[in-house]
Amino acid sequence: MSAAKNINFEDFHLSQETYLQFAGHIYKLAGVNLPYNSKNEALVKNRLARILRAYNQNSFEEYWKFLKSAGTPETQEFISALTTNMTSFFREAAHFTWFGKAIKTHFEKLYSARIWCAAASTGQEPYTIAITVCENLPEKHHARVKILASDIDTEVLKKGGLGYYKESEMGGLSRDIIFKYFDRTIRDGDVFYRVKDFLRDMVQFSQFNLVDQKYEFKKPFDFVFCRNVLIYFDEKTVGKVVENLSLALNPGGYLLLGHSESGNIKNALITSMSKAIYQRNSK
Ligand SMILES: C[S@@+](CC[C@H](N)C(=O)[O-])C[C@H]1O[C@@H](n2cnc3c(N)ncnc32)[C@H](O)[C@@H]1O
Repeated sequence: MSAAKNINFEDFHLSQETYLQFAGHIYKLAGVNLPYNSKNEALVKNRLARILRAYNQNSFEEYWKFLKSAGTPETQEFISALTTNMTSFFREAAHFTWFGKAIKTHFEKLYSARIWCAAASTGQEPYTIAITVCENLPEKHHARVKILASDIDTEVLKKGGLGYYKESEMGGLSRDIIFKYFDRTIRDGDVFYRVKDFLRDMVQFSQFNLVDQKYEFKKPFDFVFCRNVLIYFDEKTVGKVVENLSLALNPGGYLLLGHSESGNIKNALITSMSKAIYQRNSK
């Protein structure tokens, strides 16, 4: 579906009943909690009106009927519309200062690292992780670092995998870092920065839903970044997700959450180290 232009979401009326059906559906699919209030109502209306227009549908009720029996691509489109993908390079930069030192220490002992970026959005966060690895470990070791970047939203994963960013998305990166890790290129007449092949090859993008009951990975991770997604979940979901993320870590491994998300995190498997950084307990 291509988004229709000149959307005026005020053209459509969204009843409370239909709002609650959409909110229930996104909660079930992605854990995203959108209680009924005027701010969320405007958000849902605005984002879903684009889909209605593109399908030439005349009401939210019509779209809801369609969505109930929709296939995977249309369901994915709904998830993509109602998830918030805001991100940037070196977001909450203190984490990467810490991580630069931590990856060095880790590597000296274990000589390999498995890293999971669990709500990777359009790729800026996993590429920031890869850049930090490159800046802190000698080149000969880079192949021994695996970075998995996952998200529920396949649209953002596609963009992350391609690794093209507009000039306006390059905030947070110095000229020196841009020169080392990106190629400047023209695409359809616009300037883009493309992540260099060696950096792209360090990151594997794959779909993963954090509200899945069980996380099944061949091997546990040494570092898990799951930042700025728990804010969209309710307390019960946060508890379950933090438990699963902690179980996906090696003993001694680290879990990094968003700076604003760590206030009420309590889990017997992990211990708080510093701002929004937790360590998996040994026992
Ligand atoms: C605001 S972005 C945060 C991106 C990045 N972690 C950062 O801190 O800049 C939140 C991301 O979480 C993803 N997300 C929402 N619900 C999810 C779920 N149930 N499983 C996996 N990812 C989810 C969204 O698609 C979105 O890309």
